[in-house]
Amino acid sequence: MFKSARLKLTAWYLLIIMSISLVFSAIIYQTIDREIDRFARIQRFRIERRLGGNLFFSDESGLQILPPQSPLDPQLIGETRARIILNLGLINGVILVLAGASGYLLAGRTLKPIQLMVEDQNRFVGDASHELRTPLSSLKTSFEVSLRDKHISPTDIKTLLLDGLEDISKLQSLSDSLLKLSRYQETSKLNSRIRLSLHQPVTQAIKRLKNSAAAKNIKVSTDTAKIRILGNCSSLTDAFAAIIDNAIKYSPPGSAITINSATRAGFAVTTITDQGIGIDPKDLPHIFKRFYRADTSRSSLGNSVGYGLGLAIAKKIIEQHSGTVSVKSKVGKGTKFIVSLPLYS
Ligand SMILES: Nc1ncnc2c1ncn2[C@@H]1O[C@H](COP(=O)(O)OP(=O)(O)O)[C@@H](O)[C@H]1O
Ligand SMILES: [Mg+2]
Repeated sequence: MFKSARLKLTAWYLLIIMSISLVFSAIIYQTIDREIDRFARIQRFRIERRLGGNLFFSDESGLQILPPQSPLDPQLIGETRARIILNLGLINGVILVLAGASGYLLAGRTLKPIQLMVEDQNRFVGDASHELRTPLSSLKTSFEVSLRDKHISPTDIKTLLLDGLEDISKLQSLSDSLLKLSRYQETSKLNSRIRLSLHQPVTQAIKRLKNSAAAKNIKVSTDTAKIRILGNCSSLTDAFAAIIDNAIKYSPPGSAITINSATRAGFAVTTITDQGIGIDPKDLPHIFKRFYRADTSRSSLGNSVGYGLGLAIAKKIIEQHSGTVSVKSKVGKGTKFIVSLPLYS
């Protein structure tokens, strides 16, 4: 698909360049042609004046007659014209080859980002449909099996419905994440930024997750001073919630999570530190990619494993705020996420 688009784009570049080149060649030819005529006329006029209006002159060899019309040799003029046309043709040929080659290169460069974006979109759609298919087929199979069972008890039906509800909640959270991801893909979100205290999104994120922290008896302590930033509170709450949610999910019961913030070189730097399972160095470069989950998280969480979208969403939001997010981790010791957001000035 991109090969033919590249060829088409090259053809368009060629068409434009060659049209310009041919128009210029025509103008150049006409100008030179006119100049030759003018030159011939001036020459003729000068000779006429020198001879006092007579087209005859004499030298030692006797009387000579000038050609009736032009003082220049018409054959020479014809040859000159032919040479100009040939040269212009050659120049156009060279331009055609050069424009063809550079147009092809340029078309490749123009299409490359679009090609990468389309490939990325396709991969995303593939991954998303794969994730959607798993809970859907599990729901379908269990319903079909239960429908075929003539002696199904009310308790079994209840279990079936409960399992079904669990799958539906998973699907719901997946579609919510997908929606968030596509929403934060747009840069228009930046318009709704206001001056706010970093404390606000951090505490709101902790509040949102207090039940899951309490369920694992994990204490989340925070010391975010009143640092002023420019941002969208609900988006930043989503970002911090994604990071804190992981800290809770990937930490043993009874452990602690600490959130600190400080200002450094025009940035509000927030660190979220947990005492959890840590991230393997081989996974570290990939954890912000969509749908990426480390094997360790799959094995340690079993069924309650997420979709690998949380950090991708968090990164998008932070980047939209002209900030950065990085991670440091030691397997078995814990993980530290560092979020830097520009200070409000
Ligand atoms: N605090 C953490 N401790 C250990 N591993 C983490 C932590 N945060 C993220 N990870 C790893 O990064 C992966 C991606 O995180 P995320 O995008 O939130 O997806 P999810 O939580 O749905 O698995 C996780 O699967 C996990 O392997
Ligand atoms: Mg997560």
